[in-house]
Amino acid sequence: MRNIAGSPVEGADFFGRDEAIRSLWELLDAHDVLLLGPRRIGKTSLARRFMADVRQRGWSAIEVNVASCRDEAAFVDKLAGTIKAAAGSWTGALLDRAMALLDRVDKVRLPGGGGFDLAAREESWEAVASDALALLAARPGRTLVYIDELPIFLFNMMRFDPKTGEARVRRFLDWFRNDARGATRGAGGLHWLVSGSVGLDTLVQNHGMADTINTLKQRLLEPYGEPEALAFLDALARSYQLPFTPEDGQRLVAAIGWPQPYYLQLAFQNIRSLHRDGQPVGGLIDTAVDALIRPGADNDLHHWEERLHLQLAPDDAALAVALLNLACRERSGATATALFAETQRLRPALTEDQQRRAFTRLRDILIRDAYWCADDATGPRRYRFLLEPLRRWWERNGSL
Ligand SMILES: Nc1ncnc2c1ncn2[C@@H]1O[C@H](COP(=O)(O)OP(=O)(O)O)[C@@H](O)[C@H]1O
Ligand SMILES: [Mg+2]
Repeated sequence: MRNIAGSPVEGADFFGRDEAIRSLWELLDAHDVLLLGPRRIGKTSLARRFMADVRQRGWSAIEVNVASCRDEAAFVDKLAGTIKAAAGSWTGALLDRAMALLDRVDKVRLPGGGGFDLAAREESWEAVASDALALLAARPGRTLVYIDELPIFLFNMMRFDPKTGEARVRRFLDWFRNDARGATRGAGGLHWLVSGSVGLDTLVQNHGMADTINTLKQRLLEPYGEPEALAFLDALARSYQLPFTPEDGQRLVAAIGWPQPYYLQLAFQNIRSLHRDGQPVGGLIDTAVDALIRPGADNDLHHWEERLHLQLAPDDAALAVALLNLACRERSGATATALFAETQRLRPALTEDQQRRAFTRLRDILIRDAYWCADDATGPRRYRFLLEPLRRWWERNGSL
């Protein structure tokens, strides 16, 4: 197993996640799934492992990463790209259909786009996208379609087209529900696994589109449990012949707090670069974890802040940041009372009832998105950060 921190891991580099795989199998049987979790929790790695599994059972599987898409044409283009890649092994009528479809991809018309060039015979993106899916569904056997980072694409569409973006997102989701999923589902049809680093709920709630996604079964991808994290570190240490003791593992897991495999990989990388032959590992752990939050370290922690601004309205994002600013000061977090007082301070114009609702709504999003958890263990309820390097990074950013 290699010590990889950044890109999705596959094959022998992929560790654990048996429970998540089992649960995907169970869910996928009857539902389409929306797999949510922060960036670099391991969604793409898990989905690729799952794709390998379904292929072993005779399914086909395709992956469409739409994170960089800003409009429907780009989405259709990505979809066509995966068909192009897959069609290498197709023959006969199916191959002919694939070639005909690929010809149509450049002539997709966007909503609101001027159809100036009549000779180009533009057609709606929905028509091309639906035919692409029909083509995938026409193959024998079941097909898993894995759409990676769908929420990012939808938020992009809103951001780059403030005027009609919302209507386009609604139209996309309608197409997705009715045509993409509705028409192609079935015994031999398409099964959908959608993943996202930000939730779709704020988007669909704020814009009245809930019905278009509530037929997806939402699942959160959690970090490793402690035993899995320790076994993972042990396996890594063996691969690199580092004298890593079980106590070293426990110490590292405690310093990360919320054993997201990416941060274990990063810390392990730091340990490797600090370690000299014959030296015990124990004394290096704190330094290796400190290095995670160093300015300029490629640690991904800034994404936690960015995704608040991406998925929340500006007011809500500002309030969420203020609440997290309070909670980051102690590892044990801040009391519910103090956090609610901060909400009241920042939203003086609201009635107390509205202030309560503003707080609880954000509180729940911050729980769902794994920023913090409620802790009743030591008396009055507190909310505390889960990922300790994130808390320390947040605290350092806020201090002078
Ligand atoms: N199952 C796993 N085994 C080992 N490392 C993992 C695993 N899942 C995630 N990682 C670590 O997390 C990083 C990001 O994984 P990735 O699948 O790209 O996350 P996401 O798609 O959620 O952003 C990987 O580079 C690796 O360091
Ligand atoms: Mg990913």
